[in-house]
Amino acid sequence: MTEPVSTALPRDRWFVAAYCREIGHELFSRTVCGESILFWRTRSGEVTAMADRCVHRRFPLSQAPTRLVDDRVVCGYHGFTYGADGRCVAVPGQTRVPRTARLARYPVVEQDSFVWVWIGDPGRADVTTIPRATWLNDPQWTVVSGMEPLRARFGLLVDNLLDLSHETYLHGGYIGTPEVAATPITTEVDDDAGVVRVSRRMADAECPPFYSRSTGLSGRISRWQDIEYFPPCLYTLHSRIAPLGSVPHPDGSDPDAFHVEVVYAITPETATTTHDFWAVARDFARDDQEVSEFLAEQNRTVVLQDVAALDVLEQVVATDPPGSQELSINIDTGGLAARRMLAAMTAPAGAATEVGAR
Ligand code: FES
Ligand SMILES: [Fe+2]
Repeated sequence: MTEPVSTALPRDRWFVAAYCREIGHELFSRTVCGESILFWRTRSGEVTAMADRCVHRRFPLSQAPTRLVDDRVVCGYHGFTYGADGRCVAVPGQTRVPRTARLARYPVVEQDSFVWVWIGDPGRADVTTIPRATWLNDPQWTVVSGMEPLRARFGLLVDNLLDLSHETYLHGGYIGTPEVAATPITTEVDDDAGVVRVSRRMADAECPPFYSRSTGLSGRISRWQDIEYFPPCLYTLHSRIAPLGSVPHPDGSDPDAFHVEVVYAITPETATTTHDFWAVARDFARDDQEVSEFLAEQNRTVVLQDVAALDVLEQVVATDPPGSQELSINIDTGGLAARRMLAAMTAPAGAATEVGAR
């Protein structure tokens, strides 16, 4: 038996806070792991991230009538004024600015079309540990993307994405076919690299509408789903759609297949709500606007099917009596591995946590 997924949030980790396109030269706020963060892009184009609370009386700086004047934020309540480094440069009614008047800053990096922010001790932030999703910012790939709010703890979305057998039931008529649930998975956990891999290779499967309308293939296909999850935030699904019997060439080229990289950034907003960032990158029909519109609309629909189910599930796990248990089977191997890794990230420093169990 298994405990239901926890609401504990990892700290000292990178999370996707936004798409780069969302941040311009205006005040923008998003809550990550319960911390309300103020973002804006300076005149020179850099993204800044700082606490969205004025040090004076905690007025949210993202809130009108707070204004951005050149590269300074003027609090809309009493006028405390901050520079791009978070330091207060002016206060009303006195010339001396208290030395401690500064907003906490967050390490922030733009990479692969995402704005990544570090939650935790800034001294521990290492940009080289941010996992990559290079397809999202690569001219060889065409991308559609979006973000949906989820009123459920982020672990429920991790569970959902690591067990795609639910496609057959929750997403029938979109991406689900009988073979997804019927085909066993292989799971691999690499604790050193911080990745959980789950693969499902379907040699002879029905082609769901999501792929038949986008690739032009119909009837039976070869369909591979290779997941790599980098806890806590980045999830990638390498999806390969090909005519029956087709396999990649020994040199690694794969000219007969269609490749789709499905990327999710799973960012806790609070302990029980989540930002569900999704993107679909493809290496075919790259200039076909109709295919882009179709995939965007289909994937958003699929994401909203998950959102509806998980919003309900959150209410259930939040209100079930303490001690309620789940029953796990083979399909849950990847999800349980992810839970173990996440538990290790949320454990208090020095606590012994079981990791690496396979
Ligand atoms: S709360 Fe911002 S200046 Fe008073
Ligand atoms: Fe789903």
